[in-house]
Amino acid sequence: MSHLSVPARPAPAGAGVFFSPAAGGARSAGPVGLAAAPRAAETADARHLLGLEGMSRDALLGWLAAAAEWRTRLAAPRFAADTLRGVAVCNAFFEDSTRTRVSFELAERRLGAAVVTFAAAGSSLSKGESLLDTARTIAAMGVDLLVVRHGSPGAPALIARHLEVGVINAGDGEHEHPTQGLLDLLTLADAWGGRFEGRRIAIVGDVAHSRVARSALFGLTALGARVTFAGPPTLMPAGLAALGAEVAGTVEEALAGADAAMALRLQRERMESGLVPSVGEYARVWGLDARRAGLLAPGAPVLHPGPMNREVEISSEVADGPRSAVLRQVANGVAVRCAVLERCATARSRAA
Ligand code: NCD
Repeated sequence: MSHLSVPARPAPAGAGVFFSPAAGGARSAGPVGLAAAPRAAETADARHLLGLEGMSRDALLGWLAAAAEWRTRLAAPRFAADTLRGVAVCNAFFEDSTRTRVSFELAERRLGAAVVTFAAAGSSLSKGESLLDTARTIAAMGVDLLVVRHGSPGAPALIARHLEVGVINAGDGEHEHPTQGLLDLLTLADAWGGRFEGRRIAIVGDVAHSRVARSALFGLTALGARVTFAGPPTLMPAGLAALGAEVAGTVEEALAGADAAMALRLQRERMESGLVPSVGEYARVWGLDARRAGLLAPGAPVLHPGPMNREVEISSEVADGPRSAVLRQVANGVAVRCAVLERCATARSRAA
């Protein structure tokens, strides 16, 4: 870990994750004692969606086409489908979530699945049950798909390795958030007329702790777009250049002429204290305000995965302004999750 440190400060939690998922998994061996996070080859089983790392351009474009199709279908008044009829889905959220959980649930219900949602608080985890035992218990009830959000990188992969159910990663620690990555790609594809080659996005803020940034980076570089990161040195992991990204020294430098910007939430729950001097100072130096958004290419959209800290990483003027794609991202999320649920359920029923 130490060789990944940024100068003069200890490496932030998660800094190594950018460099190697295996290192991230081992480092974060947290409450459930996880093994390494998934390698690309392991994620190829179509029952699962564990990450975007290693996914080919064609596979990504396939996902975007499927999601766009679902988006059209979902727009029909009183849309309902029976694509997932007879499929039991459990949303297992071991970490807080609003939009991701609601979005998965809505997609599952729209497609006619039998849905149950499980939140870690109030579960047997508080009685000391291991993650795998909890997952096995749920699977034994006849669940076909598990949608897993967990604070430890590699938790969904661990379940996928040991159980027959299909596993969809809804965010694992600082590792990946593949459905968020796909919805970001779909939102950018809309703004960019479907062409990623030659485009550049500036991703600004707490990069070290961001699974959203990692999934976006893997997806965007595979599709031929360039990614420039900017953020406080204490929140910038080492090894970004090796992953094909550029790093700018200032937010202005990153934004100048970029074809899109993404502001990241300050992930204070994953941070050791002292990485940011103060929220006010952070907003002043790194916040995406209207003046800074004006540096972007004309018409370039501004994304934020939510939840937003207004006037911290993004000003209300930008979040609610004409460039904001925030609600389009949320809407696209339901379509992306329909596509993912459909494919994973189909593969799971073939495997069963
Ligand atoms: C993100 C997450 O939880 O990874 N939110 C989301 O899923 N839309 C980003 C965040 O929490 O900052």
